[in-house]
Amino acid sequence: MADTNQSIHGEWSSRFAFILAATGSAVGLGNIWKFPYITGENGGGAFVIIYLICVAAIGIPIMIAETMMGRRGRRSPINTLEVLTKEAGASTNWHYLGWLGVIAGFLILSYYSVIAGWAMAYVLKAFTGSFSGESAEQISSLFADLQFSPVEQIFWHTVFMVTTMAVVARGVQGGLEKAVRFLMPGLFILLMLLVAYAMTTGAYMQGMNFMFKPDFSDITGSSVLTAMGHAFFTLSLGMGAIMVYGSYLPKDVSIAKTVIIIAGVDTLVALLAGIAIFPIVFANGLEVGSGPGLIFQTLPIAFGNMTGGWLFGLLFFILLVFAALSSAISLIEPAVAWCVENYEIERKKACMAMGFLTWLLGLGTVFSFNTWSDFTFFGANIFGALDYLTANIMLPLGGFFIAIFAGRIMLEKHSKEELNLANDDLFSIWKFLVMYIAPAAVFIVFLNVLGVFGV
Ligand code: PHE
Ligand code: NA
Repeated sequence: MADTNQSIHGEWSSRFAFILAATGSAVGLGNIWKFPYITGENGGGAFVIIYLICVAAIGIPIMIAETMMGRRGRRSPINTLEVLTKEAGASTNWHYLGWLGVIAGFLILSYYSVIAGWAMAYVLKAFTGSFSGESAEQISSLFADLQFSPVEQIFWHTVFMVTTMAVVARGVQGGLEKAVRFLMPGLFILLMLLVAYAMTTGAYMQGMNFMFKPDFSDITGSSVLTAMGHAFFTLSLGMGAIMVYGSYLPKDVSIAKTVIIIAGVDTLVALLAGIAIFPIVFANGLEVGSGPGLIFQTLPIAFGNMTGGWLFGLLFFILLVFAALSSAISLIEPAVAWCVENYEIERKKACMAMGFLTWLLGLGTVFSFNTWSDFTFFGANIFGALDYLTANIMLPLGGFFIAIFAGRIMLEKHSKEELNLANDDLFSIWKFLVMYIAPAAVFIVFLNVLGVFGV
């Protein structure tokens, strides 16, 4: 491998382009679909606080580590790890960490695409005016119909996978930059509009209390694991997505500042989604713990009842699809970049093969909501098991090793040079977080779920 200073896959045109792409990766279904429903299932306020702590103390330092490793390695995560390991004179086993990420990316995309397909189905429903004047029950049954229809879900899952792979085949730097530029402001405006609607429901304070008034008696070891896993999931960490985007980052960009902006935007979008959704849940007597269908059972009520709701609903679901698309791209990019580097096959061919595999696996998720819903692993259906395995186990595990690598294997001279912080204390704080806090936190949360502490 030549020791070039630029990735063979190209580079971002500027710092802002990287911010757009990484924000595009981070902000997605995790914020708008997953955060509200897991907050609902885990009792609200206390869960939200644990999630925020995980973002700040574990997520941000690891995001800095991933970006930095990517930029120094300048290759797909698997090969970046190989290069950095050689540079540090460490064991070659580290590239298995790249593999763990590639596999996690596949597994996540397989179900992510199905849920993105739901959002696509809702674009059509919004367009045909299906929400207008409907009661909460009618909106719920609209969702149930979709969930029980394998054909409809497979159709949209297929459309979404084909679109994703078509974008990745062109190389991620091109279209993404433009798409995210209108995506983020648009999403933000529509979320504010939904929050304004939530204020008129009469249950606004009840929703706010649910989200922000912590009751720690709701918290179990497994909800702490879910909060931590979600911090990884929502920031796209632990599987190489941010690492591969970091590998396209120009040399002179300040990594730490950039990462803090991205994490801040991601957190804001998630909180706004929750603030919009919970008042609607309470005002309509819905269940906070109703699971993955939560946003599809609540937001259409708002669109069906507000003035201009047809247009806003249509725009919202279109933006949600784009947000999902810009995340999906980053889930598969580490695998595609690796294929291109190692086999010199065309990007297009790599995309077709991997897109097909992911699509096939996604059928398992489709059927887990209907035909195969009785088929369970450890009490969860196929979707639930995939989600648990990836978000709660694989991403934190990947993040654990990334923190160890950045903090203990990579030479300090190199990490210092990459981060180029004006202030030595800031570097020491980061180093302390990746060396001790982040790995210890992941380890303790894992042990706790295994029941080691007996509580
Ligand atoms: N961060 C994305 C979201 O919140 C999901 C994702 C996870 C993307 C892991 C890439 C890697 O929707
Ligand atoms: Na996110």
